[in-house]
Amino acid sequence: MQEPERQILATLPTPLIRLERLGLSLGDAQIWMKRDDLTGLEFSGNKIRKLEYIVADALSRGCDTLVTEGTCQSNHCRATAAVCARLGLKSALLIRPEPSKEILGNHLLDVLFGAQTWFYSSDHFNANREEIVQAVLAELKDAGRKPRWVPMGASEPLGCWGYIRAVTELINQLKDLGITECDVIVPVSSGGTYAGTLLGTHLNRSVDVRLWGVPVSDDIDHHKREITQLCSQTVDEFELPIEPPDLRMQFLEGYVGDGYAIPNAAAIRAIRLLARTEGIILDPVYTGKAFCAVLDGVQDGRLGRDRPVIFIHTGGIFSDFAWPQTLLKNTSLDGE
Ligand SMILES: Cc1ncc(COP(=O)(O)O)c(C=O)c1O
Repeated sequence: MQEPERQILATLPTPLIRLERLGLSLGDAQIWMKRDDLTGLEFSGNKIRKLEYIVADALSRGCDTLVTEGTCQSNHCRATAAVCARLGLKSALLIRPEPSKEILGNHLLDVLFGAQTWFYSSDHFNANREEIVQAVLAELKDAGRKPRWVPMGASEPLGCWGYIRAVTELINQLKDLGITECDVIVPVSSGGTYAGTLLGTHLNRSVDVRLWGVPVSDDIDHHKREITQLCSQTVDEFELPIEPPDLRMQFLEGYVGDGYAIPNAAAIRAIRLLARTEGIILDPVYTGKAFCAVLDGVQDGRLGRDRPVIFIHTGGIFSDFAWPQTLLKNTSLDGE
């Protein structure tokens, strides 16, 4: 097994901190956070760990453009655009649905980073995805560019290495703290973060890590299928000493709400709670929803009692600036 080449971009290791004040307010619970929202300002969040490997691959092939897809508040698109600007590459973003007239949050940054953008309605994009991607790649090649396609969320086998490596980083921090067992919680959407973390925990068992994914976009069956496929491809491609059937996946269900990227009252409550007790900002699409699973688990005694619970804060802060009224609107929150 050999770790693929990596282009260093993120500021690592990210801090692992105990949420003392929140823990105390919840009956002295052991709640910890791995601050992957602090991987670097423009690169903040989980995507940069995956992109470090994908960018190294693109550079080694002489590519000059990274092409990817997402919503107009996609953290992945913004991180890709930032990386390209930093390295003197071009970024090409296939965005759906069309953004509203006001350019906000992550999409504002896409524009500032000089990304080239194509916009589609969600229905049209989903029905014609493959043709659309091929047409954009052909258009770029015709213009003399050498594009490298990056799948949604950078969730491809190479990208999984971002979180395989993050697990080693986390385990070293846990060992320094004398923590020998813990629950680890990550948000799940395109699945690469969970897949890499799952593979990482199988490759390094010196701390007993119980991993839980919190879906924020789709149902469990969908995620199981996608993550199983991604893990198997990664195991095969990099000859990892893991038997895919050994990879048991565990999820905490019930946090998608009305759908992907639709903020809900529970997530807003979690964002406000953490902001006020710890001075840490979650986001309304991923971490706000996933952190609800930590709060529920701590409150009903399943998490953070006999062993620490560690939430991987995967970033997303710029989305807060895309939904200011939503974050302020819900006045029926406890204690306000
Ligand atoms: C802030 C944030 N957290 C979590 C996720 C989910 O990670 P993944 O797509 O690897 O499942 C994403 C991306 O989709 C994200 O942008």
